[in-house]
This record gives sequence, C-alpha cells and structure tokens, in this order.
Amino acid sequence: MSILPGRQGALESAHGTGKGRERFTAFLSDPQSEQTVQQCVTEMALSFSSVHSGGILRANAHLEKSRSPMALMVDISNTELPVNEVHRLAEVCEPGVSVVVVGDRNDVGLYRDLIRAGVSDYIVKPLTRSLVQSAIDTVLGSASPGTTPLSQKSGRVVTVVGARGGVGATTVASNLAWYLANKESRRVCLVDLDVHYGDCALTLDIKLDGSAGLREALESPTRIDDLFLDRAMVRSGDRLFLLSSEEKLESPLRLDPAALAPLFEVLRKQFHYVVVDIPRDNGTFLHQMLDLSTTRVVVLDQTARAIRDTLRLRTIIDAPHLGQRNLVVLNRLGEGGKSEIGLATLADTIGMPVDATIAYHPKSVIAAANAGRPIAGEKGPIAASIANLASEMSGRHVAQRRPFWSRLK
Ligand SMILES: Nc1ncnc2c1ncn2[C@@H]1O[C@H](COP(=O)(O)OP(=O)(O)OP(=O)(O)O)[C@@H](O)[C@H]1O
Ligand SMILES: [Mg+2]
Repeated sequence: MSILPGRQGALESAHGTGKGRERFTAFLSDPQSEQTVQQCVTEMALSFSSVHSGGILRANAHLEKSRSPMALMVDISNTELPVNEVHRLAEVCEPGVSVVVVGDRNDVGLYRDLIRAGVSDYIVKPLTRSLVQSAIDTVLGSASPGTTPLSQKSGRVVTVVGARGGVGATTVASNLAWYLANKESRRVCLVDLDVHYGDCALTLDIKLDGSAGLREALESPTRIDDLFLDRAMVRSGDRLFLLSSEEKLESPLRLDPAALAPLFEVLRKQFHYVVVDIPRDNGTFLHQMLDLSTTRVVVLDQTARAIRDTLRLRTIIDAPHLGQRNLVVLNRLGEGGKSEIGLATLADTIGMPVDATIAYHPKSVIAAANAGRPIAGEKGPIAASIANLASEMSGRHVAQRRPFWSRLK
C-alpha cells in the first residue's frame, strides 16, 4: 500500500474515527499498475488519496469496515465473477461513490455488464498515465460533472412516529437503526429530532458529551456539509452514527424547518439508512419530515387513543409520493390482555394493514437494560420482531425459525 507523501497512517486514523472521507482510493492487483496510478495521483496533486495493492476483493473487505472515498478505482483482473464483485461493492459502498474498474479483458460484453452495474468507466491494462488521468478526472467530476455513482440510489430516510406518547417509537427507531448497522452491516445514521426530551442516546447507551450538533444544523442550514456533520455526529461501533442534541429545557430554539431538506440531502449521500425519531408536538417539522421520508413507520398500540391518533396521522401520510411507503407497526401486542382491541378490528378501523407486530415483553426490556445492550442485540421476541421489520424494510429475507417437529416431517 502506498499513501501520498505526508499522509502516512492518515487512512487508518480516518477509518478509526469515522471522520473525513478520502477523495480518491485505488486498489490494483499488480505492482506496475499500482505504480502508474500512484504517479498520476502525485502528479495531479490529489490530496486525501491513497493507492493500495489487492484489487476488488481487498477493496470490498476494506470498505465493509471503512468510510468510502468520493471516487474509487478497483482492479478486477483474475477475479472469477467480476460483475458479482461489483454488485457486492455497491452494497458495501456509501451511496454516491463513483467507480472506475480496471481489468485485463478487452471484452465488450463485460464492459456492458459493468456499466449496467453502475460503473462509470472500464479501462483495460496496461495502464498508461493519460488513461488513468482521464479516468480520475471523470470520476472526480472535473471532466464530466454528471458521472454516475455506483449506487444510483441515495440512502433511505426512515421516519418513525408514535401515534401517541409512550407507544414505543423511540424503542423501534433506535433498535431498528442498531440492527441495520450491526446485523445487516449497513451504514446508519440515527437522527433524534427531539432536541429537548430525545432519548435515543439513552436507549442505545451512547454518551453524547454535551453535543449540540443537531441543533446547530437545524438553526443554520447554510453550515450543513459533510465536514460539519462529521463533527456533529457521535459514533457507536463501526457503522452506527447518532445525530442529536441535549438542549436545556429553558434554552430558546430557533429551529428552521427549511433546514430539514438540505440536512437529509447530505445524510442520504453518506448513509444507507437515515432513521429518524420525531416528536409529534411540532406540526411543521412533522409534516416536512414525513414528506421527505422514503419510509414512514407509524407505531401504535391497541388502545382507542392510539387508533384515533393514527387516523389523524393518516391525513399527513396518505397519498404517498412515488417511491414512498408507509409501514404500520403494532407495538406492545398483548399488553392489555383479553380486553384489548383485536388485530383485525384494529386494522379495519385505521384503514391500513398492520405490517409488523412487536409483543409486549417487559422481560426483554429489563434484560437488555441490565446487560447494557440494545434490546435488538439480545435474544427474545422484541429482537426477533425488530429483525423481521428490518428485513421487511431492506427486502432481505430473515429465515423463519420453524418448530423442530415440522423439520421431522
Ligand atoms: N414491546 C415492548 N414491551 C415492553 N416494553 C416496551 C416495549 N416497547 C417499548 N417498551 C418500553 O416502553 C417505554 C416507552 O417506550 P419509548 O420511549 O420507546 O416510547 P415513545 O413512543 O418513544 O415515548 P415518547 O412519546 O415519550 O417519546 C420504554 O420504557 C420502553 O422500554
Ligand atoms: Mg420517544
């Protein structure tokens, strides 16, 4: 591996803290190509760039644990299923990364498949400096600003709103974010929009260090950019980031609802999922946030009040835009015993199907609190339901556990 002069070790430390992204990173599988790309990087004075040996397999392993660069060059020579590896790359990369592939096969079919998979360019070895320079220009946007990112999609914005207080919206949002980050290896940002009473950090046992990052972002939308957010977020593990504030109750807030759109625009480029926990008391914020979300999760329980408030929420979430979806989660299932409203009646009354249920299970809550871990990280019915909800959301199938006798048949 070689790194630009003066940048020894910078790549590792950037990955360790999650701060900062490289501009350009290359993984080449032979020393000659590695040297040519390194020369170009030096000649073009590309700061925050690095060139590594190892090709696409190493790139995939590396990016699974690290922040993605803005632009990437990967070598597919000697790779058995190169297009599959490019699809895998799209999975591990942050949304919005532009990719140039280098290979040793001059094959039109392969070229077409790679472009279809979202690659910006394919260059065939032996590499020359001019070939590499124009490829780097392309992916960094100076030659063609419209370069396609590997993953065309931006990350998804999942807003979780409780039909009424205490139904478990924060529990669902926090554990869903934790599960997607820790069990599905997605890069996830959990945004706690309740700047006064928010308790996502508490739920996940994350220390905030008096951070006011979210308030500052919402008060001064013009300051929002990658760097500002990097500083504002608190990291928990490899892939989960929390954006929140702990504001004193008496501190006056000048939150600007118009800041939500630019904030989430930047977040969607950095994360596969942006999970939002939102209080219900600020109508303008709620409207705006639900409008720009790709998935709106309504959490309710089996009480008449929750049903009434779900009906009120429907006035905002009905008629979703193209690509938007609503998910209804019934939490605390069974809490009221026999006297509570049945599932079929409830779905009928709210006029929406119940997409997921979570059993009322205080034991799981206590066990997780005692272990100092999120409920989704412990065994039990709540964790299993969160796993199902996450797979419903990501489209990945979670194997249903079959009872052992059904396997004997
Ligand atoms: N399925 C469940 N079984 C048992 N306890 C639960 C369940 N879901 C949530 N709880 C507990 O209920 C309490 C309220 O949950 P939570 O804070 O997530 O609700 P909320 O809707 O975010 O409330 P608020 O309106 O105050 O923001 C918490 O103590 C939580 O641990
Ligand atoms: Mg809450």
